[in-house]
Parts: sequence; structure tokens; C-alpha cells
Amino acid sequence: MPKRLLLATGGGDCPGLNAVIRAIVKRAAREGGWEVIGSTDAFNGILTEPMHLVDLTEEKVAGIHVQGGTIIGTTNKGGPFAWPVTNPDGSVSEVDRSDDLLNRLRYQHIDAVINIGGEGSQTISQKLFEKGCPIIGVPKTIDNDLSATDFTFGFQTAVEVATDAVDKLVTTAASHHRVLILEVMGRYAGWIALHAAIAGGAEVCLIPEIPYKLSSVLAAIERRIEIGKGFAIIVIAEGAHPVDGEMTYVTCEEPGAMPIHLGGAGLRLSAQLKAAGCPIEIRETILGHLQRGGRPNSFDRILASQFGIKAFELVLKKQWGHMVAYRHPDIVAVPIKEAIEHYNFIDPQSNLVQTARGLGISLGD
Ligand code: F6P
Repeated sequence: MPKRLLLATGGGDCPGLNAVIRAIVKRAAREGGWEVIGSTDAFNGILTEPMHLVDLTEEKVAGIHVQGGTIIGTTNKGGPFAWPVTNPDGSVSEVDRSDDLLNRLRYQHIDAVINIGGEGSQTISQKLFEKGCPIIGVPKTIDNDLSATDFTFGFQTAVEVATDAVDKLVTTAASHHRVLILEVMGRYAGWIALHAAIAGGAEVCLIPEIPYKLSSVLAAIERRIEIGKGFAIIVIAEGAHPVDGEMTYVTCEEPGAMPIHLGGAGLRLSAQLKAAGCPIEIRETILGHLQRGGRPNSFDRILASQFGIKAFELVLKKQWGHMVAYRHPDIVAVPIKEAIEHYNFIDPQSNLVQTARGLGISLGD
């Protein structure tokens, strides 16, 4: 009887997920004696009736490393520990179906699980591991906010999309003599914003780690006018906020969904600048999910492939409860518990921030 490995992709999608899936399937085929099965939409494929499972053969995954998204689907709602159920009165509550999930894995003769996902998904991995599930984690997020790994795949591709947007905004800003604000993703960490601001040559970069003063942003715009450059590019992370204000978000009542949705930081900044008498015209661009979609770049394809190969090797070694991580130049295994303990925030004293300051980019402080 072949052994059975279940793959799940959870949380927001990310360029490179398919490259991980392909690498695991190919490595398992080289090993021999393994069947790889995908659970659709994270663990929903196992928990629904009937189950929605996909046979992941070498033929099925051929060439998918260049495709964005995930061929087995994903969700950032619910999960085995918070499964939404509708009560007879129409209200919705969340129930813990983790025991049911473990029973279903046994019923499906699953010998190992690889859960590919960000902090939320790896928290689920850790809880399942504590209940005896033979599980390995693979980190993913375009936000690069997991501290256990130097980089997550998907991040570099997102930075390229954001940098390309800055490049394009520069030409139209210069033509129209405008301030153009670009809002990029990054809930609690401003990695995409800072990288894109440096790579694209923005004048201002606002990140969650360094709350901004409106007066500093205005001063940076005025400096541009003084030196005869009548335009400016501001890159702002969605989680950035003024020193005297909070992040901009809307609350979400939908059962199982993330309780807050970020967005609006760029529009708020624009309104603040206008109210403060910014001397030139302002427009806003929200890059949104363009940063998550599309083909992974070569760096992310390679990192995702390295993660997939290493993850399968951890399965062979039965190193349950561990997550693969990039520690240049190696791919290592770290306990998932440690990996989810800390966010990867930008250190305001770091070389990257000093580089931005050295280039004259205002961080708004
Ligand atoms: O993947 C992380 C992230 O991109 C955040 O930066 C963003 O706030 C969130 O996902 C948005 O997710 P969604 O729109 O899919 O709920």
C-alpha cells in the first residue's frame, strides 16, 4: 500500500504556491511509494460532505510552477477550529471540528500532511500537531512578515509589481506635476512598501512600524517643489498610520472571516494632505490584489521549489510540527511553535531603513 500525503494551501493566495505543490509531487514521485492528495480550499476539502480531494500526480502538476494562485484553491475564512455553522434561528456560530478532521484523515489513510500557509494557517498546523497530527508547515505570504524565515516566496514578485507601479506613476506624476500616492499591502509590516520605494525611487515611504507626522510628509512635498521637481511619489503600506491615529480598516461581521479588513490608508493620507493645504494636486492608486496574482518571478519559483523539496524530506524524517524556513543560504526546519511566535517587523534602525534615509526618502517621522 502506498503512503498517502495530504497537501493544503490556506490563507490569502500568493505567487509560488503551485511551485511548492509541484516540487512536493515531483520529489514524492522520485521517492516512490507515495500518493499525494490535495484538499481543496485549505482543509475544507476534507471537512465537507462529500470530501473534495484532488489526486496530485506528476502529470497534473506539470508546468504549474509558472502559474499564479493555487490549483487546489484556498480560503482565509473559518478552518477546523472555527468552522461556521448556521443555527436553526439563522444565526451563525463557530464550532471546533478538529477532532472530526483528524478522524477524517485517519479514514482517508493519510500518513502525513503538509500545510502551506501564513501565520494563521501555521497556527492551525501547530494546534493540529498538538493533537497528534503528523504535519509539516511551509510558510507563505507576500507580506514577508514571518520572522522565522529570511524571505517568504511571493514577496519578491509582489515587490516587482509594486515597483513597476512606482515606475509607471513617476512618468504620469512628472507630466501632471502631481503627488501620486500608491497604497500597497502590508498589514503590520511595511516590507513591500519599503522595497518598492527604494527600488522605484519614491520620495516618501510610510510603513506601519514608523507612524508618520503629516507635517513631515508635507515638508517632503515642499522640498520637491523647492528643488524644481513639481511632483512626488508616496508609497504607503495599508497598515501605516499617523502618530496620533490608528490603522484604517473596516470591521467584517462575516462568520469565520478575518474580523478586520485593512484599506483606506492612501485615501486618508490624501484627504489629510488636501486639508493641510498641499500646494499640488493629489491622486491615489490602490494596488490591492494585483500584488497577489499572476506568475511568480524566478526567485519565488526557486524558493518555493526549495521549500517543497525540503518539506517532503521532513515528511520522510517524520519531523512533525516543524516548518521549513530560508536562512540564507540554507533551507532549514524550525518548530512551528517558534515560527508563529513573532512577526517580522522592519527594524527602524536596519540597513534598509538607513538606505532609504540616505537616498533622501522621507519615512514621515
Ligand atoms: O496575504 C496578506 C494580505 O495580502 C494582507 O496584506 C492583506 O491585508 C490581506 O492579505 C487581504 O486579504 P483578502 O483581501 O484576501 O482578505
